[in-house]
Amino acid sequence: MSELNIRVLNKDDWSIYREIRLLSLQDSPNSFGSSYEQEFLFSSEEWISRLNLDNRVKRALPLVAELNGIAVGLAWGLVHSPKDKTAHIYQMWVSPDVRGQGVGSLLLKKIIIWSKELNLDYVCLAVTTTNIAAVKLYKTYGFEPYGSLESLREASMLSIQPMKLKLCTSAA
Ligand SMILES: CC(C)(COP(=O)(O)OP(=O)(O)OC[C@H]1O[C@@H](n2cnc3c(N)ncnc32)[C@H](O)[C@@H]1OP(=O)(O)O)[C@@H](O)C(=O)NCCC(=O)NCCS
Repeated sequence: MSELNIRVLNKDDWSIYREIRLLSLQDSPNSFGSSYEQEFLFSSEEWISRLNLDNRVKRALPLVAELNGIAVGLAWGLVHSPKDKTAHIYQMWVSPDVRGQGVGSLLLKKIIIWSKELNLDYVCLAVTTTNIAAVKLYKTYGFEPYGSLESLREASMLSIQPMKLKLCTSAA
């Protein structure tokens, strides 16, 4: 029987993180501002430091979804500074083999719950406008477009739409 588990990555998981992140950049180059070519060059220290949450001002929730022990999904929740009332979602990716089975939903739900536990007001992300699956996923959870379109990355023809989920009714 297959078993799906979502857990928080720690610095000892850096090679698991590296593998799935590079896979995601190769598989979905139009979904991310960064690129495989850029991150392939990162040293092991860089991967470890991304996952080393001990000395961070930021609060972070790096999640991996594992199916029978194999990493099949990745997503980060990140609060950039202690006073921020907004969490950001980055690096959301689910392996093509297991898409459409609720893994993306589970990752997103975990980040929303974490953000609520931190008493934040918003969860924000940016999604490529042509990414129908992701836009639909985020809309299902109540994210709404805000602000203006931006370029995915320098010289890209693709645009990203910022989206925001309001967690707290009293937030502006
Ligand atoms: C976007 C992504 C993370 C969704 O992951 P997933 O595990 O397939 O999503 P789920 O199975 O949890 O689907 C949840 C909801 O998303 C939407 N959705 C998912 N796949 C969809 C598709 N192919 N077409 C339309 N809507 C889709 C639906 O609303 C779905 O709910 P439903 O099943 O009740 O209709 C996945 O397609 C992916 O990794 N894409 C490539 C990377 C990427 O685009 N990341 C997002 C960067 S912002």
